Parts: sequence; structure tokens; C-alpha cells
Amino acid sequence: MYTRGFILLRRLSTDSKNTKFFTTPIYYVNAKPHIGHLYSSLIADAAQRWQHVYQKSSFVKFSTGTDEHGSKIQQAAEKNNTTPDKYCDKISSEFQKMVSEFDINCTDFIRTSETRHKDTVAKLWRVLNDSNHIYLSKYEGWYCVSDETFLTESQLKEVTVEDGKKILVSEESGNPVEWSSEENYMFKLSAFQDDLNYWLKNNEDAIRPRKFHKILLDLINKDDGLQDLSVSRPTSRVQWGIPVPADPSQKVYVWLDALANYLTVSKYASDEVTFKKCWPPDVQVIGKDILKFHGIYWPAFLLAAKLELPKMIFCHSHWTVNSEKMSKSKGNVVCPIESAKKYTTDGMRYFLLREGVAHSDGNYSDIKVTRILNSELADTLGNLLSRCTGTALNPKQIFPKLKSDVLDEMKQIDVTKKLIDSVQKLPDTCRDYYIQLNFYKAVDSVIATLHVANLFFETLKPWELKKNPENHAKLDVALHLTLETLRISCILLQPIVPNLANVVLEKLNVPEDNRYFENVKTFSWNIKNSSEKPLKPEKVVLFKRILTEEDTKVKVKKGL
Ligand code: ME8
Ligand code: MG
Repeated sequence: MYTRGFILLRRLSTDSKNTKFFTTPIYYVNAKPHIGHLYSSLIADAAQRWQHVYQKSSFVKFSTGTDEHGSKIQQAAEKNNTTPDKYCDKISSEFQKMVSEFDINCTDFIRTSETRHKDTVAKLWRVLNDSNHIYLSKYEGWYCVSDETFLTESQLKEVTVEDGKKILVSEESGNPVEWSSEENYMFKLSAFQDDLNYWLKNNEDAIRPRKFHKILLDLINKDDGLQDLSVSRPTSRVQWGIPVPADPSQKVYVWLDALANYLTVSKYASDEVTFKKCWPPDVQVIGKDILKFHGIYWPAFLLAAKLELPKMIFCHSHWTVNSEKMSKSKGNVVCPIESAKKYTTDGMRYFLLREGVAHSDGNYSDIKVTRILNSELADTLGNLLSRCTGTALNPKQIFPKLKSDVLDEMKQIDVTKKLIDSVQKLPDTCRDYYIQLNFYKAVDSVIATLHVANLFFETLKPWELKKNPENHAKLDVALHLTLETLRISCILLQPIVPNLANVVLEKLNVPEDNRYFENVKTFSWNIKNSSEKPLKPEKVVLFKRILTEEDTKVKVKKGL
């Protein structure tokens, strides 16, 4: 069945929606959080923070959480000599700790073991079942226990293991498969091939960036098209899961269970008014490993349940560490909380959002983190702050007012013009990048402006101007322009480094109510008859340089 009216689903929607809704994946509790998990959460957090900066009185829902069912979790608990629920409590709390340490300002933290979630899955199941999208079938095929999925012949490959024996494994994950025969409930995924094609072809934004949009289209249309999907597992195989309503001999397939988390936080099963305010999600952040589940199964389930599809699925690539895939067996998994001890939490936020690009894999290395944080947070942003707020040049601790004739005179100097021009263009440039979730480009533009500001400072030599009272009006202009550059830059950096931005904005005495996009549309040098304003007197150090091996060697040499 293929009807365009059905796919659009607009008629069911969105008059009462008043809330922007952002989501992250919910993370498996079979291992502790690492920088990959942090990265997804930061993208979603920066996106929702931008929403707040951009539109002052936005309603935002922002959900994250943990995915706790399935035989993988059951096995992990057994290995740790504990029960699944105790094991889930422990690992879930580590994800919650990551969320709070890194200021990921979620409004909802969802655990799939919660009753509200079980109720949602039961409701979704009933809706899919009552609309004839689910049927019982005897299923025979190659089953991959660790991936909890059946695979077709074409998804398998033969590999030789240590003792020379040949076994079949999943081509995608490399995990072994076994022949299995069981009763399963099936979801009529094959019926949605045309609808999914229609959705993707008519929604540029459905999957971003474009690269993943294309990959998904290929996936949907490859070989003989979409096959029906098994959406339950026998309880004899998987005990730790949500029972199929009215059939306790089966548990709901983990991915149907996991994807329903987005409905749980929207109160799909419990509160229609709230649900209508936030549905559908505006931005769903995922990693490329789960594109198939969010780009095929998820929209198909929603279409079957007559629910509107997400506006944008934002898919990002992966982090490697020193150019290798992170894995427990290699022992190269980077723990965010450990790294933050060295680099601070805002330092980690800055690095990941500044270096990560969605369309290709990023590489994490200590040398790179150190180099970027030192050169940009300490030497560029921190340096400019200490230059224009230091008591040497600014003993009265003020944001001085301008004499416009002196400003005009100084505009004859190239670098002054360049700075004013750069700052005035910055808000719109950043807005465009933020809207596309191109954080690295937004940060890049801010840093480029701060470089110009530092150059401006070096060219004007305010410490020379200070020596001669006749030049004090020029000194005021120099301080004014650099302080204004900092104000604009830090308002725009709030989504990336909320704490550092706050330190600067506090020092500049910018009231909390004046830290929005609307406040960077007017530049102080264009305001007539503005008055001098006090800074906060406290001395601040923005970001302490991280010692490199080189620094340590020099210190040792100098006997320090
Ligand atoms: O797949 N680089 O959970 P998961 C960047 N429970 N991001 C990475 C990454 C890396 N190296 N490794 C993981 C699951 N991620 C399911 C999701 S959602 C309804 C259910 C991030 O713990 C990335 O977002 O394996 C990836 O999609 C997610 O963590 C997978 O986390
Ligand atoms: Mg995974």
C-alpha cells in the first residue's frame, strides 16, 4: 500500500506542537561510557543549547538514557556475578554521572527498565498488532546471538578460526551465527519500502549529512528489497526483556523496545496533551552504526502506528583513538571522566565539538587535544581576556565608553576595520552553522575573529598607549573593541563551552538575561552615547595551559 497522503501524515499533526525535541541514542549498559557516547550527547546538547540562545523563550525537550534489555546485558550481568537489575543500576548511574559532569542539560533521562517505558512498549505493540502489522510465524534462519538478529545468506561470510575450522559470521559485525528455528512475531517491514523511499526522496533533511541519506537509500533498495522483521524472541532464549502483551512465551525484540524510548519520554502512552506538544522529534542524533535501525525500522514502526516521522536524523561518524577503533580488548577506550581530570569538562566539550565532523571519522589523541586546547582556549581566548581585563591596562576594571571621532580615526588602520567587520559578520555566520549542526565551523569562525582581535591588540600596542595620557582615548577604543569582541564571541560559544563562556560573561558583567542571540545583533560601537560600565573586579584565569612533554623537559632543564 502506497499513499502519499499517508506518508505525509501532516493531517495527524502538528498544530499543538510548541516544543523543540532533541534526542540522543540510549546507550547499552553492557559497557561503561566512552568518548563516542559523550560525543553524541554533546552534539544534541549543543543543538538544544543553541535553541535556547537563539530563541529566548523556547520550550525544549531533550532526552537521553540507557538501553537495558537483551541477552547481551543478561550475559554481562552473569559475568559480573550479579543480577541484571543491579548490573543495570550500576552502569546506568555511570552514564548519568557523565551527563551531569559534562553539563548535558537533558530534560529526560530514560531507562528502558522503568515501568513507564514498559507501558509504552506494550501500547506500541498493541497498536502495531491491532492494525495488522504483526503476524506470528515460524522462523528458520541464521541467528547471530551477540547481535540478536537473524541474517540472510547474503549477510554472512565464512571465516577460518584458530584451529583451522571454518565458521559463518555476520559480514557486518564479524560475530558468529548459528542455525536456529523458532516461533517469532514478524513485523511487515516489506510493506514500507515505497513509503520509506518516498519519505527520503522528498525530505532533504530526513537524514543529515547527505552522505548518510544516500547510504540509507542504497540500503533500502539493495538486493530484493526490505524483508519482514522479526520483532520478538522466545523467552527461553532471552529472559531479560519486556514480555509481548498477551504472550509471555515471547519477549519484545530489543530494537523495538529501545526505539520506543523516544515515545516514552514524549508520554505517548500516558499523556496525550504533552505528547502532542512535542511530537515529532526535531533532531535525533545517532552514530553511523545505528543508521539502519533509525532510518528504516524506526520510521516504519512510526508509519505503521500512524505517527509523524522525525524532522531530522543527524548521523555522525566515529571516533578512533590514535587511529584505531576503540575496543575493550585493545584497552584503548577513552573514559570521558578520566580525560576531564586532565583537560577539564569544558576542554573535552570543546575538543570533541571543535574537531568532530559528522561525515567522516575523527581521531582522538592526547597530543592533538593538548595542542588545540592550549592554542585556542589558553593562547587565543584566554590571552585576549587577560589582556583587556588585566589591571595593567585596565586598572579601573571597566568596559570604557568610546569617543566616536577617535574610533573613526582608528578605523583608518586596516586591522581595526578588519576586526569590526569580522565581529559584525560573526553572529549570522555562526547562526547558519549552528542551524546545520556544523559546530566545528561555528567554532572556527569565532576563533578566526579572536585571532584578528589578538592581532589588533599587538598592532595597537595598548601598553604603549597607556604611557601617554594623550593616547588614553585610543586605549579606551582598543579595550572597548576587544571587550565587545569577547562578549559577542562568548555568547556565541555558550552551546559549546557553557562554563567557560559563563566565566567570561560574568567577568564582563553581562546579565544572564542579555546572553541571547538577540543581544549579539547590536554592537556596542554603534550605540550612540553609551556609558562606561564596570567589569566584575575578580581576577579570572580562563584556562590553564596543559603541560606538554616538551614543557616538562624544559622545566627539568631549567631546574624548575
Ligand atoms: O547502539 N564514535 O547503544 P551503544 C562516536 N543501545 N560515537 C560513538 C562511538 C564512536 N566510536 N561508539 C559509540 C546502541 N558511539 C543502542 C542504541 S537507540 C534507540 C539504541 C555512540 O551503547 C553513537 O551515537 O552501542 C552510537 O550510535 C551509540 O554511541 C551506540 O551506543
Ligand atoms: Mg554499539
